[in-house]
Amino acid sequence: MCGIVGYIGKQEAQPILMNGLKKLEYRGYDSAGIAVINKKDEMNITKSKGRLSNLEDKLAKHVLEGSTGIGHTRWATHGEPSELNCHPHTNSKNTISVVHNGIIENYLHLREWLATKGYKFYSDTDTEVIPNLIDYYYENDLLEASIKAVGRLEGSYALGIMSTNEPEKIIAVRKDSPLIVGVGKDEYFIASDVPAILNHTREIIYLEDKEFVVLTNSGVNVFSLDGEKIEKEVHHVTWSADAAEKGGFEHFMLKEIHEQPKAIRDTMTSRIIPGQPINLDNISLTQEEIKKIDKIYIVACGTAYHAGFLGKYVIEKLARIPVEVDIASEFRYRDPIITDRTLLIVMSQSGETADTLAALRDCKAKGIKVLAITNAVGSSIAREADDVLYTWAGLEIAVASTKAYTTQLITMYILALFFAENKKTLTTDEIETIKKDMLTLPEKTEEMLKHKEVLQKFASNNYMHKDMFFLGRGIDYAVAMEGALKVKEISYIHSEAYAGGELKHGTIALIEEGTVVIALATQSDLYEKMISNVREVTTRGAKVLGFTAEGNTSIEKTVDAVIYVPKVTDILLPVITVVPLQLLAYYIAVQRGCDVDKPRNLAKSVTVE
Ligand code: F6R
Repeated sequence: MCGIVGYIGKQEAQPILMNGLKKLEYRGYDSAGIAVINKKDEMNITKSKGRLSNLEDKLAKHVLEGSTGIGHTRWATHGEPSELNCHPHTNSKNTISVVHNGIIENYLHLREWLATKGYKFYSDTDTEVIPNLIDYYYENDLLEASIKAVGRLEGSYALGIMSTNEPEKIIAVRKDSPLIVGVGKDEYFIASDVPAILNHTREIIYLEDKEFVVLTNSGVNVFSLDGEKIEKEVHHVTWSADAAEKGGFEHFMLKEIHEQPKAIRDTMTSRIIPGQPINLDNISLTQEEIKKIDKIYIVACGTAYHAGFLGKYVIEKLARIPVEVDIASEFRYRDPIITDRTLLIVMSQSGETADTLAALRDCKAKGIKVLAITNAVGSSIAREADDVLYTWAGLEIAVASTKAYTTQLITMYILALFFAENKKTLTTDEIETIKKDMLTLPEKTEEMLKHKEVLQKFASNNYMHKDMFFLGRGIDYAVAMEGALKVKEISYIHSEAYAGGELKHGTIALIEEGTVVIALATQSDLYEKMISNVREVTTRGAKVLGFTAEGNTSIEKTVDAVIYVPKVTDILLPVITVVPLQLLAYYIAVQRGCDVDKPRNLAKSVTVE
């Protein structure tokens, strides 16, 4: 979703803005633009539809000189992707420019009101009201005018604002959309996310909702909506700039798939230690509170929802607490039954997903405890939840989530074991056995990366199909959902996951000669049942790639190709089973010539509803 970068300092702004926007490409966009104020205090703007390379081509012909600038990658919400709708937007006099991430819900009303004051609008966007509103309130103080204008906005926003009247200043503010401030040496930055400025500084200020930051050549000051000065902590980010590079891999997605053994290890480190109780980073949930919980909701979107789906199986099995898993955009509008014995778990890689954040806020307003599982330190979800468990997956850049998912699964196991320990639903021996097996997962994940050849071959024989089906029972069904999502989002093949036993209640009608089916049969107690389901599809001509645990060689009689997953406690198998599914999706997308890291229509961080 839209990316914002801003720079003020002594260097030329254009290359810094362009570099920052490139680092934000992973968020998804369809047009881009930058505005720079030059030495004559003129506002110069260049915009382009499509990829950043189009903007670069234009800038190569006409460099924007100056050392104060803002840039934007736009993911269209109001108005088609076009140069006209692309940011930065300005007031009619071209003295104020604004970049915006989010949605202004009352923009039509503001637009009509501004029109009565003589303002003209040229784009279809909600954003264009903002520079005009600031212009309306401007009386020689950009901060004051911005505060007044923002006070009239409803919706979500992260804004970067500049004016030729006060050329050595950038103002920024956020509400429900991410925005960070970078503090360098005699230079200052704003950005939607840390990678955009990591080449310049690791000193970061995280803004709270409706905090205004004023960046000048001599420093950064933060103010409240009332204009009161606020002291902010500067955080040191430890990621290296390399984390945002491909490191020899063809795509970020492939790199991130390969980083899973490390990500899994990092997420378990210090939490799972043989012979010691699970260590949950000082979360505030007490044993008394845990014993009282009679219902857990796990609320998330997309891949994180799939991890939650597995969490339901795992927490119910190990800790015997009833769990409901909900899609955040459904949960927030469906009046769920919430009591003082309910725990909400929200899960989000980015920590900024609008629907998940809204679910968190609704539940907090109802007075229940919220535990967040996120990969983004300092994100809105991390800051607003009562407790946070971080997935230490590291920076995930490819739009299709891989290592964040596997670390979310790991966190589900850790949490289930923690609850089981506190509720004594498992013996110490049973817990120790699972922990011991968990510690082998990094190396077993590594083994799964070696199946490339079989997967590449399967992909090159089947990449041209229009449909694919993923079947599984129990926790394999949860993994099947994630496998199907990976295929559809990066290769644009229609793919669906079905619970093995459900297929014959309708969907089997779609199976015909040559239909591709991925069958997951890793669970020992469901193996025979799953094999029967596979036979139902092979009888109708399906081509099947099977996944099962080592030793289950009888599957070879039923499927066309098989991938064996190493032996480990059944309940942990999803972590390693999903790895070849991710690789399969990746190879299919490569064969089809798709833009793997930046699939069409998708955004990495969905900060609007
Ligand atoms: C799929 C994917 C999305 C996200 C979803 C939630 O590969 O990345 O489905 O999982 O948009 O995002 P987060 O986890 O950031 O809340």
